Amino acid sequence: MAVSEVVRPLLNGAVMLLGLNAGGALAGGGPPPPDPEQVEAGRGVYQEYCASCHKPRGEGQPNWERPNAQGELPAPPHDSEGHTWKHSDAMLYRMVSEGWRDPFNKTQHLTMPSFKDQLSPDEIRDVITYLKTLWSPEQRQFQRTETLVRGGFPSSSATSSSATSSNYSNGREENAD
Ligand code: HEC
Repeated sequence: MAVSEVVRPLLNGAVMLLGLNAGGALAGGGPPPPDPEQVEAGRGVYQEYCASCHKPRGEGQPNWERPNAQGELPAPPHDSEGHTWKHSDAMLYRMVSEGWRDPFNKTQHLTMPSFKDQLSPDEIRDVITYLKTLWSPEQRQFQRTETLVRGGFPSSSATSSSATSSNYSNGREENAD
């Protein structure tokens, strides 16, 4: 898309500038903490809908990096041991809303289920905001920059799946770890 070719270099410049500030912010413990009300709401969503697979403190399933007998990846941790923090807000929103499977899984099954019929856009945003409390200050800073470059949560008036589809196609690239 022509527009993004123009916007991307500008954004990268802006992110570099922010990165300089981030050095100072990191000394003080990283980016500003996530909104406490969203965190509390998200904690409730997490315990009800996510903890059964990703475990109560986001520690993930045992041997989560190894495909199981079906050739599918188990639920990964969301804490600082995992790689959830490497994805932009737009990508995380898309994964939770639409579901996700690693492209290298041997089955087509969506191992990470879609939650768009069970959770409102605000609840999806809140649960992702809660996950940010499980990351180190450096990881939160990385994820914040990733979000500036690749996109944030869809605005509440534009939560249709097309809003983030351009980020989705970058999934493999972002999933590298
Ligand atoms: C039925 C089990 C199950 C439930 C319930 C579940 N997940 Fe997952 N989730 C998975 C699996 C398995 C994966 C790994 C998919 C893959 O890579 O093949 C995953 C992956 C993810 C990822 C991508 C992580 C990464 O770094 O690639 C995110 C984000 C995520 N889940 C968030 C959530 C949230 C938030 C909830 C609750 C709203 C939730 N999950 C509920 C099984 C589950």
